[in-house]
Amino acid sequence: MRRILIIGIGAGHPDYLTVQAIDAMRRADLFFMPDKGAEKAGLNAVRLQMLERFVPEGGYRLVDFLIPARRPAATPEYKESVGEWRDKLEAAYRRLFAEDLQDGETGAFLVWGDPAIYDGTLRIIDDMRTAGHELEVEVIPGVSAVQALAARHQITLNRVGEPITITTGRRVGEGEADGLSSAVVMLDNHQVFRRFDGEAEIFWGAYLGTQDEILIAGKVTDVAAEIVRVRAEAQAKHGWIMDTYMIRKPEKD
Ligand SMILES: C[S@@+](CC[C@H](N)C(=O)[O-])C[C@H]1O[C@@H](n2cnc3c(N)ncnc32)[C@H](O)[C@@H]1O
Repeated sequence: MRRILIIGIGAGHPDYLTVQAIDAMRRADLFFMPDKGAEKAGLNAVRLQMLERFVPEGGYRLVDFLIPARRPAATPEYKESVGEWRDKLEAAYRRLFAEDLQDGETGAFLVWGDPAIYDGTLRIIDDMRTAGHELEVEVIPGVSAVQALAARHQITLNRVGEPITITTGRRVGEGEADGLSSAVVMLDNHQVFRRFDGEAEIFWGAYLGTQDEILIAGKVTDVAAEIVRVRAEAQAKHGWIMDTYMIRKPEKD
């Protein structure tokens, strides 16, 4: 039987790694390293530093695999294009497991943040098992960018007794969060927070947990232009950016 470890490594800082994650890393025979341009090169550098620091004895193999490009598509074709992309990725995983992972070996994915939050690894592995692939799977939770954001801005995500919404820039751009008192927004390439005005506050963080971390907070009307400028400069400098933010409207009496 082949074993797969899906290890949440936290959203940037090596100290976000849990003891459980470090133990799991030490059990792996090989690590699958995603390859997808500048962003992933930056993220893989963090993964490699973690391996050097927490598995100093080495003895593992690194296997690069190419993440296929996703066909850009707006709603309503978005889900279809993600479906196509996942099929391609599943085919890549199948090849990887057949060619690089021997029976009895343990392969690990070092998943950014937490594997349960906006990450496709678990779903693809699950589809493969449903399709009859015999894999023993273990999932290790990690510190998500959501938790990193809240800790760095020293905010709670919920108001007393209220739900927490974690959503995407695409959905917020479609107006989904307009009626909500707060929302955490990930995967926003278009800075859709600019649709909020009045008293709404934003707590924004980029490269959270890394040495390049940037934090900005304030009323959206006061800081939106600054965030857009700082974000564009940072993206130009690093070649990639990951940012997350919470929008919070004033509490009603
Ligand atoms: C594909 S999702 C992966 C989320 C990840 N599984 C997690 O739990 O944080 C990528 C998005 O996560 C957010 N993100 C991940 N790491 C981040 C970081 N260090 N700083 C800010 N945002 C981050 C960004 O919104 C980015 O667009």
